[in-house]
Amino acid sequence: MRRAIFPGSFDPLTNGHLDIIRRSAPLFDEMIVSVLNNPEKNPMFTVDERCEMVREVLPSVGTGGCSMLVEAFSGLTAHFAREREATAIVRGIRAVSDYEYELRMALMNRRLEPTIETVFLMAGEEYSYVSSTLMKQVFELGGRVNGLIPELVEKKMGEKNGDDQSGSPRTDKYSGRSRR
Ligand code: PNS
Repeated sequence: MRRAIFPGSFDPLTNGHLDIIRRSAPLFDEMIVSVLNNPEKNPMFTVDERCEMVREVLPSVGTGGCSMLVEAFSGLTAHFAREREATAIVRGIRAVSDYEYELRMALMNRRLEPTIETVFLMAGEEYSYVSSTLMKQVFELGGRVNGLIPELVEKKMGEKNGDDQSGSPRTDKYSGRSRR
């Protein structure tokens, strides 16, 4: 059984994440999309909301017969991978700028759990600039992010921001800060 975890914050899930899932899932028998529980980072969505969104969107992704699971986790990714008896940690690389951070993480994870390999996949070029942070920023300021995040996620972001459809910049309700 080849089991991998695909860890991340997924705040929110983007089409870039889905692209990595679509590319990597066929390499494994089972993949756990592992959503980091990081309340200290003041995420837009709770970990349960993020897991739920991933679960709802996943059926639309072709995963080539790989069984997909979604789980929240806390603590170290390497320890979570070991607990789930995964042999691989999947990460996507969008651009050279991702490389240094990802290399450090991969080396640290390998030191922590030498038998677990990090598997890097190159993101599709159309998603090479897509990050959760950028999506939130553009959305909150009234920009369009359609096609870059799943429709369901866009809808949930609108609900979070109390979208008034007026075209004016959205208010950052989840953190209580005004955006203007
Ligand atoms: O989607 P992200 O935010 O780029 O994912 C980063 C993530 C969750 C993979 C990373 O922050 C992580 O692994 N956090 C868990 C704590 C941990 O293991 N830290 C040491 C990494 S070497």
